[in-house]
Amino acid sequence: MKEYKNVHVINHPMVQHKLTILRDKNTGVKEFREVVEELSLFMGYEVTRNLPLEEIEVETPICKTTSKVISGKKLGIVPILRAGLGMVDGLLNLVPTAKVGHIGLYRDPETLMPVEYYCKLPTDAAERDLIVLDPMLATGGSAIAAITFLKDRGAKSIRLVNLLAAPEGIEAVMEAHPDIEIYVAAVDEKLNEHGYIVPGLGDAGDRLFGTK
Ligand code: PRP
Ligand code: URA
Repeated sequence: MKEYKNVHVINHPMVQHKLTILRDKNTGVKEFREVVEELSLFMGYEVTRNLPLEEIEVETPICKTTSKVISGKKLGIVPILRAGLGMVDGLLNLVPTAKVGHIGLYRDPETLMPVEYYCKLPTDAAERDLIVLDPMLATGGSAIAAITFLKDRGAKSIRLVNLLAAPEGIEAVMEAHPDIEIYVAAVDEKLNEHGYIVPGLGDAGDRLFGTK
């Protein structure tokens, strides 16, 4: 895979450890869901690392001083349904005031093309820094469609957070949307003939919601 300066692989040991729990086929629904949330929180630290700060005045029990708070645009979290829902609470633990928009897409199992079935965004989504959530970046079709959708509605600042990616998906998203930042816990080897990430973790939506 080509090197992209705006693709960030989070190598933190806690992240890698939790990702292994998700890969394990013996991890049950309850633990899978809990670990997706924890992993999303850890990744959220990296995703928000460059948020701008400003100094404000504060009075400690000792004296007046200035100290830093987050400034700049407000955040919006946009999970891609269904599996992206599993990542929302992790991000909201970090940024409890963020608004949440939803984009419903599923991948047609024959064509692997994304099919849209739902969308509800905050009215001021275009003015927010948006964080798009989806555990899996496989062919990239779903992420590309979601990002195109957000840009068509005026969004200018978009970060994409995936737990696992295939090289094919990263290249496709970078080709379609070279301006966005991508955060992943790992880039796996390849896609198989059904468009699943290898070695991957299987079907993230089914494992989160117990539908298989
Ligand atoms: C999965 C996953 C992504 C998409 C990735 O969703 O959560 O949205 O596939 O594949 P792509 O990069 O090839 O588009 P799926 O379509 O299985 O729907 P679900 O989340 O409702 O299970
Ligand atoms: N969607 C998933 O849930 N898993 C994959 O490996 C690919 C797409």
